[in-house]
Amino acid sequence: MSGKKLIIGNWKMNGGIGHVELAKAIIEGVNGVNAKNVDVAICPPFTLLPLIGQVVAHGKVSFGAQDCHTAASGAHTGDISAAMIAEFGAKFVLVGHSERRANHNEASALIAQKARAALDAGLVPVICVGETEAERLSGDAVPIVLSQIAASLPIDCTPEQIVIAYEPVWAIGTGRVASTQDIEEMHKAIRDSLNSKFANAQIIPLLYGGSVNAANAEQILAVNNVDGALVGGASLKAPDFMDIISAAHSIVG
Ligand code: PGA
Repeated sequence: MSGKKLIIGNWKMNGGIGHVELAKAIIEGVNGVNAKNVDVAICPPFTLLPLIGQVVAHGKVSFGAQDCHTAASGAHTGDISAAMIAEFGAKFVLVGHSERRANHNEASALIAQKARAALDAGLVPVICVGETEAERLSGDAVPIVLSQIAASLPIDCTPEQIVIAYEPVWAIGTGRVASTQDIEEMHKAIRDSLNSKFANAQIIPLLYGGSVNAANAEQILAVNNVDGALVGGASLKAPDFMDIISAAHSIVG
C-alpha cells in the first residue's frame, strides 16, 4: 500500500458503554491531526458496534468487528454474521486473529470462509496470521506464515478487497516486539508471495501487530512493506493510540 498507512485498534474483549468516550476522543484526535495519508479504524466488541457506528459517523475514523460467522444468517446461536456487522456502517472485520485461532480452534480454511462471508457483506476482511514462539524458534516462521496466508485468503478475492495483518503470536500482549529485521524479512516474504498470486499485490495493506506502542511505532511503521499496524493494548488509551497515529503521520504525512 504505497504511501499510506492504516492503523487499526483492536479492543478485544474490553469496553463497555463508557468506552464510547474513548471512541469520541480518538475521533477528535484524528480530526485534529489532518493526516490525509493515515487511515484509522477501531474494532470494539460486538456489543458496542451500534453505538460506535453512531459516533464514528461524525468523523474520519472507520470501525470494524473482531470476528464474523461464515454464514449470512441462520441457526448459529451466539454468532454474528458479517451482514449484521455491515448494517451498522462497519468497514472492516478481523478474521483469524491468533486468539480466535487458539481459543476457538479456528483453522485457516475456516478463516477463508469467514473472509469470503465478509466480502459478500461488503466488508474488508483483515486476515490475521502469525507464528507461535516455538515455530519462530524452529526457524520455519516464514514458510508457516506463508502457508497460513495461502490457506486463509478466500478464493477469487482481489487485492483491493483485503488487508493482511502479520502478528507473531509471542509478541501479542507481551511487550515483546519482533525485531525490525524479522518484521522486514516476513513482510517482504509475504509481499513476494502475494506478488506471485496477484498482478497488483503492492496495494494490499500489510499490517504488523504485536505490542505496538507509542515508543516503538515510528520504528516499526518505517520498515519496508509495513503499511500500518494492528494495535491491541495501546488502542485502549486515546493518548497512546494518537501517538501511534502521529508516528504514522510523521512518516507519510
Ligand atoms: P497487542 O495486541 O498490541 O496488545 O499486542 C495486538 C493484537 O492482538 O491485535
